Amino acid sequence: MMRVWYSTAEWVGRRKTITGQTIGFVPTMGALHRGHAELVERCRRENDVAVVSLFVNPTQFNDPRDLDRYPRTMEQDLALLESLGVDDVITPGIPDFYPKGYRFRIEPPADLLVMEGVFRPGHLQGVLTVVMKLLNVARADRAYFGEKDYQQLQVVTEMAREFFTGTEIVACSTVREESGLAESSRNRLLSPEGRTKAAALYRALTAAASADDARAALASQGFRVEYVEEHWGRRLAAVYLEGVRLIDNVAFEGGADVAHS
Ligand code: PAF
Repeated sequence: MMRVWYSTAEWVGRRKTITGQTIGFVPTMGALHRGHAELVERCRRENDVAVVSLFVNPTQFNDPRDLDRYPRTMEQDLALLESLGVDDVITPGIPDFYPKGYRFRIEPPADLLVMEGVFRPGHLQGVLTVVMKLLNVARADRAYFGEKDYQQLQVVTEMAREFFTGTEIVACSTVREESGLAESSRNRLLSPEGRTKAAALYRALTAAASADDARAALASQGFRVEYVEEHWGRRLAAVYLEGVRLIDNVAFEGGADVAHS
């Protein structure tokens, strides 16, 4: 039977009873899709106890309208997690997780404040701060993150090491629809036509000869492009379609760390 913990204190009590078993952890903001399901399935396979958090973290939203319209589907999420054999779900309230507000925060180093760091001021600080809280609360052996948020994965991996969290960060490949569109909670905000069109993001990143070519191809197809840049051997982009912000990235040949503004 899956247990759902609505307060951090209750979960911490349960956590103390888990000894001699490995714990795997999947942090999420809910609105679960096939990409999350794959993270959870892997977590389930590789650990004795599978734990998932559902928490829409306000501090990582630089735009309050984005936070308001972020999809919330708690009932379906819990049903999916139960069907995947999850043992424990942690879903704290905001006052529980930020009891005195957003007072302490983790600052990423300047060299990692590219892309999301430039276009979403405060976003990476919010992500790192909540992930540090979540890792401290879960005290898991492994935590599973998707490669779709590639920059997030990089900063979280470095932070977890630097702060000796004791949790191994496990990177999991992006799950895509047949069209190539990366699975994302935000896809459900697109119209059916938008969803079809959005697959052009993956095609442009894969097919273009350079980041600049990818940017031009996307702009000519009606996307509002925030960035296309190359770091860590990946080509990464953020675009808007129908007012919805989509990010994606692909591995590419000869991936030197070159930024294109
Ligand atoms: O990737 C996400 O869903 C979020 O950024 C995370 C890691 C759960 C932190 O809120």
